[in-house]
Amino acid sequence: MSTPMNWKNIITQQLNIEYPIIQAPMFGTATPEMVTAATSIGCLGALPLGDLPAEKCIEIIRATRQLSNRPFAVNIFANEIPVITEDIRTKYTQTKQFIEDLARQHHLIVTLPTIDELPLNGYQEQVDAIVAEECKVVSFTFGNLDEQSIQKLKSNGTILIGTCTSVKEATILEQSGIDILCVQGFEAGGHRGSFATADDNSPMIGGLALLAQVHEAVSIPIIYAGGIYNAKTLLAANTLGAQGFQIGSLLLGSAESALKAFEKEKLRHVKEEEIVLTKSFSGRYARGIKNAFIEAVDHTDYILPFPFQSKLTVELRKAAKANNNIDFVSIWMGQSIHPFSGLSTAEILKALIAATEKEYNR
Ligand SMILES: Cc1cc2nc3c(=O)[nH]c(=O)nc-3n(C[C@H](O)[C@H](O)[C@H](O)COP(=O)(O)O)c2cc1C
Repeated sequence: MSTPMNWKNIITQQLNIEYPIIQAPMFGTATPEMVTAATSIGCLGALPLGDLPAEKCIEIIRATRQLSNRPFAVNIFANEIPVITEDIRTKYTQTKQFIEDLARQHHLIVTLPTIDELPLNGYQEQVDAIVAEECKVVSFTFGNLDEQSIQKLKSNGTILIGTCTSVKEATILEQSGIDILCVQGFEAGGHRGSFATADDNSPMIGGLALLAQVHEAVSIPIIYAGGIYNAKTLLAANTLGAQGFQIGSLLLGSAESALKAFEKEKLRHVKEEEIVLTKSFSGRYARGIKNAFIEAVDHTDYILPFPFQSKLTVELRKAAKANNNIDFVSIWMGQSIHPFSGLSTAEILKALIAATEKEYNR
């Protein structure tokens, strides 16, 4: 006799959702429509706000609320902004020149901003906007929130989800009162959420090892992110101690994804050796598909610390996208290759739920 899978747990309770499945916040790719689709079927939609200025965050939160009256999470980058030293200033000018020349060689004409033109705002102004907008679930990556921000959000009744890539980071987040961990395995697509490393080496811990160890080390609930693309991978994360399941790459080809047709086409033909970890676009490690830009910039000196490299390459990536130029766009994806369905986010997540229930009873 089969036992029905019980999806209800501490995560569904805390987040007030039906299924403990989280549509990954994917800055530049996850749209308000994707968030709405995920929430419409009882999952948690997560609206990526990245490092956008407060007024832009408010605009996007309100636009998403126009589409749906169900609550969703918002996601921000919790890194500190480094001071602009003379060294960074000089290196910035050299890197800007190198990248503009490289683009020109590939027939893409762009003028990138000078360092003084960069919009560099800290996440604290986003926190104020989020509190004012009464968002009740906030996830974050690239760091831990400062004490004051944690206090502000918590006294507003907000549930906090912090991203970690090591046991050390998991413990830091737990000790500062974060409610739920998002444990990000090495296989995950997009940027790594690492923050507690003395040097520039991101902890490179595979999901299997990391999830099992974090589960032993902490007592707060865990959402796992990285490589979940079908029933078996979801159930494996469940076995290792995850109560929530964050789904990123599986939604990249979906109808609501902001990727353009040429980018989705690339995903559908990707080979495993093309999926790399690179700092070339942003100055932080991110996993995505190798292209001419990554090949030319990786292992050179033309990589500034985050967020300078990221801000420097924004216009390049925009121009490349507008020109259907695969050589200069950043297509982030994880290590799990699958058909990248073009169905709606709701259909893809519903199919994952149904397949998991079937597999659970096998
Ligand atoms: C295109 C893309 C963009 C991403 N952007 C963000 C982001 O803005 N904030 C965040 O916390 N995580 C971001 N991530 C990481 C995801 O939250 C998640 O860790 C990852 O997608 C899980 O691995 P998977 O892609 O194998 O499902 C991004 C991932 C992708 C693929």
